[in-house]
Amino acid sequence: MSLTRMFAVDSAPPEPAVAPERFKAVFRGHPAGVAVITLPGRPRPAGFTATSLVSLSLSPPLVSFAIAAAASSWPFVRDGSTAVAHLLTAGQEDVARRFVTSGIDRFAAPTRYRLLPGGEPVLAGVDTWLLLSLESLIPAGDHRLAIARVRHAAIGDDHRPLLYHDGTYRTLGA
Ligand SMILES: Cc1cc2nc3c(=O)[nH]c(=O)nc-3n(C[C@H](O)[C@H](O)[C@H](O)COP(=O)(O)O)c2cc1C
Repeated sequence: MSLTRMFAVDSAPPEPAVAPERFKAVFRGHPAGVAVITLPGRPRPAGFTATSLVSLSLSPPLVSFAIAAAASSWPFVRDGSTAVAHLLTAGQEDVARRFVTSGIDRFAAPTRYRLLPGGEPVLAGVDTWLLLSLESLIPAGDHRLAIARVRHAAIGDDHRPLLYHDGTYRTLGA
């Protein structure tokens, strides 16, 4: 972005806020891949379903994800230094649903997981995942944008992504 454009944006008169329902309606029509971010923790790890995971930089390899400041997982992101981002595939809606459900132990059965040496949980059955080290946290409205470096990438054989579109879990072609 040029300096001129940055100045123009900064000096523009404030626009009326877009209504939340209208804002959400736009993104309901914009499909996104579904991930589960897990974080080390004692006595239990933490984790949440996220569609905000994006590839950010190739060199160095960086991703970002957004987390609500009110989310129960936020203190684990704020105070932690590592995470695992699992990229869900077709048929893993049950995993996605478990990791949005409030007030349950998301790591209790039927969830199965193992811990990496740093205590990061890796979900059984999710074969594509990234080990991340958290590098920066940027306040962004009611969310925080986490920027993380990819330390390890595991790639599974199933290349059919789980998508979220119009409030529904979908797969390509379905
Ligand atoms: C498809 C989908 C995508 C989501 N993506 C995000 C996300 O990127 N960031 C986020 O903070 N919450 C996201 N959420 C919401 C959280 O997964 C969920 O609200 C949160 O885990 C609730 O946790 P808590 O009740 O323990 O605070 C998403 C929910 C759904 C259904």
